[in-house]
Amino acid sequence: MAGIPKFAVFASGSGSNFQAIHDAVKAGKLSGQAVLVVTDKPGAFVEERARIAGVETFAISPSTFSSKELYEKEILQKLVELEVEWIVLAGYMRLIGNVLLEAYPSRIINIHPSLLPSFPGKDAIGKAMVHGVKVTGVTVHYVDAGMDTGPILAQQVVEVVAGDREQTEERIHAVEHELYTKTLQQLWSR
Ligand code: GRF
Repeated sequence: MAGIPKFAVFASGSGSNFQAIHDAVKAGKLSGQAVLVVTDKPGAFVEERARIAGVETFAISPSTFSSKELYEKEILQKLVELEVEWIVLAGYMRLIGNVLLEAYPSRIINIHPSLLPSFPGKDAIGKAMVHGVKVTGVTVHYVDAGMDTGPILAQQVVEVVAGDREQTEERIHAVEHELYTKTLQQLWSR
């Protein structure tokens, strides 16, 4: 792909994946430019991370819009203004609707803390622990209209620490931070 792709990170929470991606860009391990952080949760910690990183934030609560369509149109306007080419979801706790899917066909990527199609949706780590699986993992995939259903780009296995959610979660996050940047780099250097 010609040039350095401009991307936006969408996040609802802590933003550790945003941080890892930003750090990888700064370290020269990922050739992309984070031009925007979009959050549906004004005040989320990812905003603070973005401020420190010097990346513009667009905090926009869907509750102030009468429909998902209008909410996404507002976001799209901002993405177009900043010439964003890729959308990187990192803990964005919302399904992407038609407005963004049609504007960014095969250009929206997500990371999920399980080996999809196992444990889609919220609290994938909790569900895996309750199920008693011995291994779980991380999936990076294209986003479609479903819940964590798009074509898979990469997966990595993580061993569950029996009875210890905290340690299992730590392992998963460490893998996420590596796998996301590695996969984006592969995708953007095609
Ligand atoms: C990650 O586990 C990601 O896989 C999931 O949400 C979590 C976000 O964590 N979709 P963070 O906000 O990036 O720290």
